[in-house]
Amino acid sequence: MSADELAKVLFVDDEVNILKALQRLFIDEDDLEILTACGGGEGLAVVRDNPDIALIVSDQRMPEMSGVEFLAASRDIVPAALRMILTGYADIDAAMDAINKGGAYRYISKPWVDEDLKAVVRDGVGKFRLLSENRRLQEEIQAKNEELARWNLDLEKMVQEQSMELQRKYDESRELNHKLRDSFRRTIKAVAALIELRDKKMRSHSENVARVAMAVGKRLEMEKRELEKLLVGAMLHDVGKIAIADANLDLPLVEMDEIGRQEYLGHPVLGQQAVAMIVSMRGAGRLIRHHHERFDGEGFPDRLAGEAIPLGARIIAVADFLDHRLREFEGDSGLDLSLDNLKEFSGSHFDPEIIPHVIAAAREFYAEALPHAEFVERELPPERLRRGMVLARDVVAASGLLLLRKGVKLDADNIETLRNYYEFDPGHRPIRVVFESF
Ligand SMILES: [Fe+2]
Ligand SMILES: [Fe+2]
Repeated sequence: MSADELAKVLFVDDEVNILKALQRLFIDEDDLEILTACGGGEGLAVVRDNPDIALIVSDQRMPEMSGVEFLAASRDIVPAALRMILTGYADIDAAMDAINKGGAYRYISKPWVDEDLKAVVRDGVGKFRLLSENRRLQEEIQAKNEELARWNLDLEKMVQEQSMELQRKYDESRELNHKLRDSFRRTIKAVAALIELRDKKMRSHSENVARVAMAVGKRLEMEKRELEKLLVGAMLHDVGKIAIADANLDLPLVEMDEIGRQEYLGHPVLGQQAVAMIVSMRGAGRLIRHHHERFDGEGFPDRLAGEAIPLGARIIAVADFLDHRLREFEGDSGLDLSLDNLKEFSGSHFDPEIIPHVIAAAREFYAEALPHAEFVERELPPERLRRGMVLARDVVAASGLLLLRKGVKLDADNIETLRNYYEFDPGHRPIRVVFESF
């Protein structure tokens, strides 16, 4: 109830004169609506018709129903209304009853003093207004709290959904990134395989150079991006050799004619130009350009010297030399001889600080790539291949394309690949593998 609404006050008495007197007493109180009832029965009817009633003042002594009985009954109908009892001086017990049983909050002695009664009624109405305002505010706060709790719940759900969505997108882009990198590497490998297709005695050369170069890069703690460049540069270092005429491909430099020499000396620049169209490969392109520079400045194409040669190109130069040299030696001592040879060029052709790392990396890599003596070597048809066997020779398709390089350890995947290949293209030689005898 707001302060400017009329407050209803009900007086109940069995004497009509008293009711009239009371109505006169409050005639000037224009914020009160005075209701009267002659006896408890009528009083309850008025209460039922006025559920917003603020204050009930009842006489105690009435013939049909006592004031205490009436107030108690009215409490069931309008629990929020305030109740008072009018009682004589001698009737204190009834007043106590009214308070305890009838829910009255005070009593008024009879006969009353007009001004006192007016003050008590005004006080009661004020109290009722305060209580109902308080109730209204409490309800409002509770409603707001409930709304807030609902919002919180919605918000939590929303945050949860959004973070799940974010995680999903993150996983997706990681997977995509992974696939992209994987397909990039496969493409690089395929291009490298194409180079080697023309020069069959250099089979696996690019990959050997790349493996040794990467091992050296890791030993030198190169950054990830530099290692990526090194990998691409090493795999494609001879891509420019595509332009060299077949007749010149097998000849040493001194035996080539002038055109052949020019083609050979141009292969690093041509290689760089070939990859320059792909922006992400330009860094690798620089390594390709400089893989024939010498540490003393006597190399080609730019005669760079010392640290002016990119580190990756200095590494590729050594790994490249080593893999070429190894192909010239037969037998177990080939690696030692090649490494001795390498040391002779330290400081002239190659960066002396890199040499020890190349030696360590090469010993590890070539020892694994070349079959070991205490292993048994056999030629087997594809159906007898087993996991863990190591290829003793490159497996090459009729077209000359390298299917798997020697040194590869067979697993379920590559065994299946070989079997499938042999099924649609039979008549190949058995596959040479090395495995532990037991
Ligand atoms: Fe080269
Ligand atoms: Fe090479």
